[in-house]
Amino acid sequence: MGKDVIIACDFKNTDETVKFLDRLTRIRDEVVRCDDITVGAGRPYVKIGMELFYAEGPVIVKKLKERGHKVFLDLKLHDIPNTVKKAMTVLGEYGVDMVNVHAAGGIEMMKAAKEGLMLGAARYADKPKLIAVTQLTSTDEATLRGQLLIDRPMAEVVRQYALNAKEAGLDGVVCSAFEAADIHEACGEDFLTVTPGIRFDTSSADDQKRVMTPAQAKEAGSDYIVVGRPVTAAEKPIDAYSRCREDFLGR
Ligand code: C5P
Repeated sequence: MGKDVIIACDFKNTDETVKFLDRLTRIRDEVVRCDDITVGAGRPYVKIGMELFYAEGPVIVKKLKERGHKVFLDLKLHDIPNTVKKAMTVLGEYGVDMVNVHAAGGIEMMKAAKEGLMLGAARYADKPKLIAVTQLTSTDEATLRGQLLIDRPMAEVVRQYALNAKEAGLDGVVCSAFEAADIHEACGEDFLTVTPGIRFDTSSADDQKRVMTPAQAKEAGSDYIVVGRPVTAAEKPIDAYSRCREDFLGR
């Protein structure tokens, strides 16, 4: 199974994004050529979120794909099944590698999302992964109980949403690395856990509530770590990215 480090490209526009990735890739390519052509070759896997996508539109996906990046399009769809199916068909046509929905939309919506995505991606040999957001990390138990009227512990809700995603035929979920083992136990080892909230130093979390280091996430069984500021805001992004790969992938 393809474990990887995904860089969250939370930049304002294409220019900033490409400039950053150019810097990262040019230097990295040199490192790769000098050391071992097979080690870490290829462009980093990147995540594009709502801000960048809404600012730039589909062209940002096309541009990054042309440059050889794998793209996780993090748009978190949530609507009636028919609408989600049609929207997913469009996203599938872009050639994205990973895309997501909110599990709160229910099993029928997730099944429709998968159908739509596969229709859109019909011409691609490598089919995109479809994953579900279980609960946002900004939602805590007080919000669950007080606003959403869900009177169950967070861990139980996350586990049930992951099981729903599995039943709908999805490939995995976005979750905290703290939940990865529980989700694998419930849904199987092949069910992907994509985990943000990664920091080199767990005492500096920015706005993330619970964080793990890349090495801890590896230990916890994460399949993909999503890393934003620890790489994008690092003084030496190439070193930070290489450290993530080394600690999480061992290469
Ligand atoms: O900069 P940082 O490493 O905190 O970035 C994490 C990325 O993962 C951001 O793009 C954020 O929106 C995303 N994310 C998250 N928590 C979730 C889902 C997505 O941090 N539950």
